[in-house]
Amino acid sequence: MKIGVMCSGNGSNFENIVRTCRTDEVVLMIYNKKDCGAYKRASKLGISSCLIRSNDEAKIIREFMWAGVELIVLAGWMRIVTPHLIDAFPRRIINIHPSLLPKHKGLNVVQRALDAGDTVAGCTVHYVTEELDSGDIILQAEVPIIENDTVETLTRRIQLKEYCILPQAIDHVKHKV
Ligand code: GRF
Repeated sequence: MKIGVMCSGNGSNFENIVRTCRTDEVVLMIYNKKDCGAYKRASKLGISSCLIRSNDEAKIIREFMWAGVELIVLAGWMRIVTPHLIDAFPRRIINIHPSLLPKHKGLNVVQRALDAGDTVAGCTVHYVTEELDSGDIILQAEVPIIENDTVETLTRRIQLKEYCILPQAIDHVKHKV
């Protein structure tokens, strides 16, 4: 299955997908921050990439369609996706979120988990729908919150789980279509 990825930042999940999927499966990475880590990783890995700075979803759709993309993975895409893109790829867009949804939707969720005094955190892969971080859940993984955790230490622990469940979730979706 041809996979497209959308990133705004470091791109460590993107790189992990490329390394865990079959060769040539990830065909295009769209990013919206010039020189972001994801762009550098794409260059290093030899994956086509495309900078789209505005929220020009018609262009995003065109690029993915031209590339023959069948599944879109949001891996740190820091922008709301509109119905335009969702309708172009129905049930073919998934997102990785660093909390145990439905708990802590939106931004700064690791800080919010710490502030709330949670004892468990984690990550969720879900289908993308019009409502933020609310689509059907595909996979989740828990991590414990330990004494003296900071946003940095807990984020790191969560990300290690993300590297496990995102490729598994992609596999799951592949077998459903
Ligand atoms: C991940 O923690 C993911 O949960 C969130 O954005 C972060 C992206 O990290 N949506 P990276 O760019 O893959 O390193």
